[in-house]
Amino acid sequence: MTHEMFELDGRVAVVTGGTRGIGRAIARAFADAGADVVPTSRSEDAVDAAVADVRDRGADSFSCPVDVANEDDVDALFERVEAELGGVDVVVNNAGINPDAALGRPEAVDADAFDETVEVNLGGAFLCAKRAAEHLHDAGGSVVNVASVGGLVGLPRQHPYVASKHGLVGLTRSMALDWAPEVRVNAVAPGYVSTELTDDLEANDRLRRSILDRTPLDRFADPEEIAGPALFLASDAASFVTGSCLTADGGWTAR
Ligand SMILES: NC(=O)c1ccc[n+]([C@@H]2O[C@H](COP(=O)([O-])OP(=O)(O)OC[C@H]3O[C@@H](n4cnc5c(N)ncnc54)[C@H](OP(=O)(O)O)[C@@H]3O)[C@@H](O)[C@H]2O)c1
Repeated sequence: MTHEMFELDGRVAVVTGGTRGIGRAIARAFADAGADVVPTSRSEDAVDAAVADVRDRGADSFSCPVDVANEDDVDALFERVEAELGGVDVVVNNAGINPDAALGRPEAVDADAFDETVEVNLGGAFLCAKRAAEHLHDAGGSVVNVASVGGLVGLPRQHPYVASKHGLVGLTRSMALDWAPEVRVNAVAPGYVSTELTDDLEANDRLRRSILDRTPLDRFADPEEIAGPALFLASDAASFVTGSCLTADGGWTAR
């Protein structure tokens, strides 16, 4: 009985940025929970591999590379989801970037990199949720936005990223208000997770040590440790949870 609350049997989920790191772990966890899953990103080969992976776990799926910042791509993706899987119940807005040109003190940040970061991390989530809205309402579905501790507190030298993630937490709350009671909209805010995005941080002894000094659990998370909170938010176990932002940060924001 209890575990059934966490099952996604008969549901269709789209996971953006589902080809590696946190998104790949979420796609796998959702497939294991019984969902049909469409993991997507910009890279065709990576999408093919992620699709093969969820199919191996029993999910129906198809390959459709997408740039979430491109509205035509997003339209094409959800058209295929409708045609091939009959609609969508869960959208996980996980695709995210933090390019080098966006790092530094405000005066050093490249304006184009600022725009690109916001367009992908925030605009992409908006476009996907908006495009899926009709189906989500029909299905009584849910949206899970992968934000960050950088959506809750300031981080030095990461202004575009922090702005995009604060925006994503705000978007989560305002969409939750407009789409209740049919659709639940929540966010998960990871702390530091071992993925390609944080390779350089983890490889730099000084930065790694300063992150661990602020992390009570004293380590980076594995991507699977963010998949659990995402699965909870998408599942019936969270049926009274909307407009919330669940931290999964090893205690980082508890200080
Ligand atoms: N790792 C952490 O410590 C951490 C902490 C807090 C929050 N997060 C958030 O968690 C999410 C996943 O991060 P991650 O660490 O797993 O990063 P990652 O390993 O770099 O994976 C990012 C994924 O997003 C895809 N992607 C990037 N830009 C895209 C676009 N425009 N359209 C479609 N897909 C796109 C990438 O594939 P392609 O490049 O092939 O398109 C890839 O699949 C991000 O939103 C990130 O901000 C991560």
